[in-house]
Amino acid sequence: METKPTADGHPVIDPRQFRNVLGQFCTGITVITAFGDDAAPIGFACQSFAALSLDPPLVLFCPTKASRSWAAIEKTGRFCVNILAEEQQQLCARFGSREPDKFAGTSWHTSELKLPVLDDALATIQCTVDSVVDGGDHYIVIGRVQVLSESTDSDRPLLFYRGQYTAIEPEKTVPAPWRADLDHFLTTTTLDTWL
Ligand SMILES: Cc1cc2nc3c(=O)[nH]c(=O)nc-3n(C[C@H](O)[C@H](O)[C@H](O)COP(=O)(O)O)c2cc1C
Repeated sequence: METKPTADGHPVIDPRQFRNVLGQFCTGITVITAFGDDAAPIGFACQSFAALSLDPPLVLFCPTKASRSWAAIEKTGRFCVNILAEEQQQLCARFGSREPDKFAGTSWHTSELKLPVLDDALATIQCTVDSVVDGGDHYIVIGRVQVLSESTDSDRPLLFYRGQYTAIEPEKTVPAPWRADLDHFLTTTTLDTWL
């Protein structure tokens, strides 16, 4: 469908089409946590998480500018990324809501870096805030990795696809062609390699 451009010359993008098209990109889900001013744990479900850089080790996530959790997290200058496992749908729904006590009924502990860490997460990444970039109606928060940890259980990740929770079908999981080189990829940064 053809539409008139915006005043500054860009094409008008229909929000529903934007959501539908971007919803085709399947992601994992994280819960970003920190302690608030009153020492109570805070957090929110966050799909927009990505690895950014190996050297230095950086990750990113994108909170909406309306996020109360981010406003509180920004003040502390540190956060923990908790990568959710397949069976954590209910936990995800709670952290994706505006409930006042999102941690009720959730098992968590305080790390040495003084961050709330969810006990049953697939993996956790504790970071300090490196920089914050404007991203339209969101921010792009870049975090410097301080502590990494992963579950010893062979749990699978919770996935988000076209607005719904889903999971990996194990029988459809196959090694990528470059698997033999994975170690090299993960430990070497050159201009033509990617994490
Ligand atoms: C699966 C899922 C993914 C989400 N991803 C994001 C995200 O990437 N960025 C964001 O700002 N909010 C995201 N949200 C919404 C926030 O979790 C929600 O708006 C937030 O919990 C509101 O509470 P707050 O004001 O305490 O931040 C997501 C929610 C769900 C359920």
